[in-house]
Amino acid sequence: MIDAVRWVRTPENRHEVHVLDQRLLPLRTEFVVCSDHLEMASSIRDMVVRGAPAIGIAAAFGVALGSQSFRADAGIPYSDYMEGVSRILGETRPTAVNLFWALNRMKALWFPESDSVLPAGTELLFQEAQHIKEEDVRLNMAMGDHGQRLLPETCTVLTHCNAGALATGGFGTALGVIRAAVGAGKIIRVFADETRPYLQGARLTAYELMEDGIPTTLITDGMGASLMAKKKIDAVIVGADRVTSNGDVANKIGTYGLAVLSRAHGIPFYVAAPFSTIDFSLSSGDRIPIEERSPDEVTHIGPDIRIAPEGVSVYNPAFDVTPAEYITAIITEKGVFKPSEIRSMAP
Ligand code: MRU
Repeated sequence: MIDAVRWVRTPENRHEVHVLDQRLLPLRTEFVVCSDHLEMASSIRDMVVRGAPAIGIAAAFGVALGSQSFRADAGIPYSDYMEGVSRILGETRPTAVNLFWALNRMKALWFPESDSVLPAGTELLFQEAQHIKEEDVRLNMAMGDHGQRLLPETCTVLTHCNAGALATGGFGTALGVIRAAVGAGKIIRVFADETRPYLQGARLTAYELMEDGIPTTLITDGMGASLMAKKKIDAVIVGADRVTSNGDVANKIGTYGLAVLSRAHGIPFYVAAPFSTIDFSLSSGDRIPIEERSPDEVTHIGPDIRIAPEGVSVYNPAFDVTPAEYITAIITEKGVFKPSEIRSMAP
């Protein structure tokens, strides 16, 4: 299975985290080695690692790396230092709530240690980060099992962005449902939106599904409507970066349009996401902070090839919010819910 974030112990008994550089896929497979929280924060901000659950896992390892870098002789109490580590990691990407969920979960471990840290404390933080990662794979498999039951024996699915192994601890959310359906013997064919402007669909989803031998056709983002009109799509399945308590869903820009199209064509629109993606503190999606990214992502293909005139004005929100009314069901590790049922699942 593709492994986006790997915990490695060096021969000198130091910890490193090797992050698969998703900016280079599918052309090159290289890892960025993170030895401290600053390197991990850069990896998250610069999209070396991306996808809501994977961002959370990377941030959890970032906390552990930060603890490893603590110097007692620097004159700052451990708890203050770790607050700073957590803040730096929390300032990387604003939309995926899994990031803040993971930082809070890690904080529960380091907070009680206050002014000093034992080597066992740092070790414990790495173990917890690894635990979050392994747990995520189990949750994805449970989600896959629940979700695949919604699909007919033979089915063509449209997906947007990448909600696969690369975006999670492994297996994937939306792609996990597809993998589980294939595992259950169903005949699944996938249309993958290329996902402008960052091309997660073309570069990552097509790559992942082809590695698994799942029949995949790459399309550009504007083609979904015509395929739906021709009755070539049976279901749409996407992941999520944040679900609010009323069932609204933030996901990759373009998701909302697909949901409206699905409604217009009578096609079910499913969102697959673990409970760590649900933000029960927000009443609706208009409160979700939406990340705006560099204009270069729109004016260029990759870092170097300019496709728009110099000086053109650009708007580049990375996510949109799909109102709950357009969502058929939200697939979680605890089962399948109508968006209106999410609120009642609050812990
Ligand atoms: O900007 P990205 O690549 O981090 O955006 C990823 C998405 O929008 C995914 O669909 C979402 O995080 C779910 S990943 C299981």
